[in-house]
Amino acid sequence: MFPKNAWYVACMPDEIDAAPLSRKICNETIVLYRNGEQQAVALEDFCPHRGAPLSLGKVVDGKLVCGYHGLEMGCDGKTVSMPGQRVRGFPPIRAYPVIERHGFVWIWPGTGAPTALPALAWADNPEWAYGGGLFHIQCDYRLMVDNLMDLTHETYVHASSIGQKEIDEAPVTTRVNGDEVITSRYMENVNAPPFWRMALRGNGLPDDQRVDRWQVCHFTPPSNVLIEVGVALAGNGGQDAPAQLKASSIVVDFITPETETSIHYFWGMARNFRPDDQALTASIREGQGRIFSEDLEMLERQQRNLLAHPERKLLMLNIDAGGVQSRRVIDRLLLAERAAAEGAAADAAAAEGVTA
Ligand code: FES
Ligand SMILES: [Fe+2]
Repeated sequence: MFPKNAWYVACMPDEIDAAPLSRKICNETIVLYRNGEQQAVALEDFCPHRGAPLSLGKVVDGKLVCGYHGLEMGCDGKTVSMPGQRVRGFPPIRAYPVIERHGFVWIWPGTGAPTALPALAWADNPEWAYGGGLFHIQCDYRLMVDNLMDLTHETYVHASSIGQKEIDEAPVTTRVNGDEVITSRYMENVNAPPFWRMALRGNGLPDDQRVDRWQVCHFTPPSNVLIEVGVALAGNGGQDAPAQLKASSIVVDFITPETETSIHYFWGMARNFRPDDQALTASIREGQGRIFSEDLEMLERQQRNLLAHPERKLLMLNIDAGGVQSRRVIDRLLLAERAAAEGAAADAAAAEGVTA
């Protein structure tokens, strides 16, 4: 179960530059492409003629042409033309609201009116650099939210890169602010693990001194997790230390459900030190990609276990509070969405009764 009335990342902009892209999002099979003005478009990946996937077609003069018998589709989901046929009466297919912004293509899979996109302070800002990637993972999107809202696992899953025993020892605090859930952990006067030593060097800082380290995870609906992370040379104020004494960044996680048990995981890191250093962007991206691929097997095997044993009750420890609170927010949104859908269905039935 996932909220549908929400903006999700559908794809990276370059994924639709050359050819139409088929992607299942929230159980909807969708084709994404660029129209004549190079704007991103999202339609049902279903040709109204015989049901062929439109994504097997191609874009001609900004119009998507079905690869089976040449039906030409408009960006609004209406049929435009077909060689030797009259297509005016063809039923339209669904067109989804799409926005390309902040370096991502966003889609609104629900039928409710779209709201504003989330504000991302670091995007479109020349003082920040971003590097990231996309993983396909066979797990419920909420397992990924749990993973990101409790970084205790770093000590075990990421032992050789960002893990350290002090993560386990530092208390974690969780608070809820409306629909936002924030989990924070601070470690003082610790050794920097290898990934952070690389980042310190990348910012021209020594990598062999004690540091203060922080992790502040922010969940916002539907399934976005932005994590303030960093290390500062010890005793200089930690997260508030002057910029020249720390290496800090934001771990960016946009989780787009594909099905109930699979996700498109858009991960990355935004940093505001040395933003023009492309080699640094590449090495951070490479390191982060390696780290996140370590989560992949854990999540997929966890999902398989849960599917095999739906009756098993799981435990909730204090480290799980971030995930638990995030699920409460999601559950609240799901309830509201269901109530709105039932209200709309009742209204439609009543209107039919009046006209019958
Ligand atoms: S199935 Fe698309 S044109 Fe026939
Ligand atoms: Fe992880």
